[in-house]
Amino acid sequence: MTRLSVNINKIATLRNSRGGKIPSVKEAAIKCQEFGAQGITVHPRPDERHITRHDVYEIKPLIYTEFNIEGYPSEDFLKMVTEVKPHQVTLVPDSHDQLTSDHGWDTWKHMSFLKEVIARLQESGIRTSIFVDPDVAAIEGAAEIKTDRIELYTEPYASLYPIERNKAIEPFIEAAKTAQKLGLGVNAGHDLSLENLNFLYKNIPNLEEVSIGHALIADALYLGLETTIRKYLDCLK
Ligand code: PXP
Repeated sequence: MTRLSVNINKIATLRNSRGGKIPSVKEAAIKCQEFGAQGITVHPRPDERHITRHDVYEIKPLIYTEFNIEGYPSEDFLKMVTEVKPHQVTLVPDSHDQLTSDHGWDTWKHMSFLKEVIARLQESGIRTSIFVDPDVAAIEGAAEIKTDRIELYTEPYASLYPIERNKAIEPFIEAAKTAQKLGLGVNAGHDLSLENLNFLYKNIPNLEEVSIGHALIADALYLGLETTIRKYLDCLK
């Protein structure tokens, strides 16, 4: 089974645009799970432009599926996640002011740093995932680091999909096979949508989890959150 983890950052973006509490990220987390999502993802950034640290602590007790927190492993971030203890932490190599994650880790270059961080998270009982491009060397590095999983950065797949979907999926099949051979679980995320999700799922059947935010929340504006989540779950069948 491939789990759908809904990234609720965009709910917080909308809330923050007005200040105040509407729409509530807590309610979003509850409703997404009620409507069938098998996980909730948040990506608190240092400038708190969407999900805040306070949100993370408030959301945690509401999660009865799986809680995934993404972020760059700064001391502040590591302190927060080791207190909150989500099921999974996904490490991204983002700089402070990055608009969105747009590349994976160079796992060999950051080997000793990542090894230390991963060991620390695992000692706290947190499953780890490292965001990587579909690159065999980066995945071999991830195995050396001893992370539990990788998350494949799927933007290149999503942008080529409408033009040449077979070519778009090729490096991801190769990457997933490499990861599985090395004993790593495989997650995927970024720019996945109702258009491109099913083809990814059919070609990488042992995908453990997809985390989807932007397109899903945009679809929900027209379809409603419940119907939207059902449609994304249908893509994972
Ligand atoms: N995975 C990671 C590491 C991300 O940074 C994001 C965006 O926050 C996603 C998945 C979800 O991407 P999207 O919002 O395009 O669905």
